Amino acid sequence: MFGLKKRTVNETQPTPVMTVTPPAMAPDLVRPDLLTVEQSKDLSIEKTAELFNQHLNPGQYHFMKLLGFHRIKIESAKGIWYTDQNGRKILDFFGGFGSLSLGHNHPRILAARKKFQDEDRHEIAMAFLSQYAAALAHNLATIAPGDLDMVFLGSSGSEAMEAAIKVAERAQGPERSKVLYAQNSFHGKTKGVLSITDSQLYQSEFNLLEDKVKVPFGDLEAIKNALETDPSIGIVCLETIQGGGGIIEAPAEFWQGLRALCDAKNVLWVADEVQSGTGRSGRFFAFEHYGVIPDVTALAKSLGGGKTAMAAMIARREIYMKAYGKPATALIHGPATFGGIGESCITAIEALNVMYDEQLMENAEAVGAYMKSELQRLQAKYPKLIKDVRGRGFMMGLEFQDFSQTMPVAVRPALSMLDEKLKGSLSGFIGSALLRDHDVLVAFTEYNRNVVRLQPPLIATRENVDMFITALDKVLSGGVIKIVTDFIKSQRG
Ligand SMILES: Cc1ncc(COP(=O)(O)O)c(C=O)c1O
Repeated sequence: MFGLKKRTVNETQPTPVMTVTPPAMAPDLVRPDLLTVEQSKDLSIEKTAELFNQHLNPGQYHFMKLLGFHRIKIESAKGIWYTDQNGRKILDFFGGFGSLSLGHNHPRILAARKKFQDEDRHEIAMAFLSQYAAALAHNLATIAPGDLDMVFLGSSGSEAMEAAIKVAERAQGPERSKVLYAQNSFHGKTKGVLSITDSQLYQSEFNLLEDKVKVPFGDLEAIKNALETDPSIGIVCLETIQGGGGIIEAPAEFWQGLRALCDAKNVLWVADEVQSGTGRSGRFFAFEHYGVIPDVTALAKSLGGGKTAMAAMIARREIYMKAYGKPATALIHGPATFGGIGESCITAIEALNVMYDEQLMENAEAVGAYMKSELQRLQAKYPKLIKDVRGRGFMMGLEFQDFSQTMPVAVRPALSMLDEKLKGSLSGFIGSALLRDHDVLVAFTEYNRNVVRLQPPLIATRENVDMFITALDKVLSGGVIKIVTDFIKSQRG
């Protein structure tokens, strides 16, 4: 079909200067062996795996293979369903780590984007004012409570969080730039926010920011002590609901206490809503459940309507103006080249409208509560397997009992052959079984191997939940030995 030969630079000798007829094209400009769009779509799963290993991330492929996900090539996706190369439909309770609130290919998102393209609208308008960026910022400021009015547009959650930390630091000044953050936090992998992402693995041996202090998540006393002993702490940065940490919430009193403490100590509270925001918890921002408003917040993921990369930092106007409000400071941070890109902005504008028109937050709250009660029913049925059910709306975590030290003797020899990552972690085996035998996709959490993360699109119905619960019930009914041996068999198959 195609050779996929790598282009070599200066493969042939340059043409001598005095040659009468120059070559039609310099050798370096001869079209290399590129794949076309059609060829890309038609790549077999084997060829895709080969290219993934050669050019993307062989280590990541290892994990996909471990769970059996490497056999599936998605051909299309609509609503809550993926369709693979064999026409098999897969129920998406993973939701792209929370980036598919509207489901896949929502018709209104597709129509808005098509119209925008058909009208030859512009994308990059850095020299001119963009009506699309202005309208999106207006919509976000309208939705955001209080005076969270000033918006920076970017393309990823990490970028929005970088903007959040930077606006807070600029407003506080260098003497008060120390950031307080939480254990098991996840704020992104760019270098600034990686410094406050509590993972030894991700932080690796990078040179990171030193001006920071870590406390347990939800521990108001620890924050109070830290602020009292160290006046250089000017910023508190927390996910409203910890995602990577295993779907962890703090009670309303914590958030109310935090708000009061920050006000009293003149500390800025940055709420990372990249995962919990855009309606996932049943409110647009998860902090709205607690009746408090942060000084700065950040959104990404589903803000792109499941179709594009869009992220936003939203700051209180006073803070933003202090940081970047004058002509001399306006360009210190932003605009980002692709931050206000036309089609992404109109996609986000349409996504926000759809969320309210289709009452997706109401649905997330109601159907999410139903899912939680069904999971609790299974917990009562399988107390030896399910340890906890947590979260709200469609940001839910299902924690399995820790079998790392107590796997049944019968499966220990087979287990010892498995990858370190899987040993003792029921969630890997169960997630794999749900996909393999029941066509249901779920996600895992970064730091807690025993937690399955359930983040279906906010359009999910009770019937979808029933299908997932029935599948989970069937998997759990086999007990640990069957769950593990089925997994090991599937590895051999
Ligand atoms: C809470 C939170 N903050 C920040 C990020 C980083 O977002 P991105 O992967 O788009 O850079 C994530 C990503 O999962 C997240 O969950």
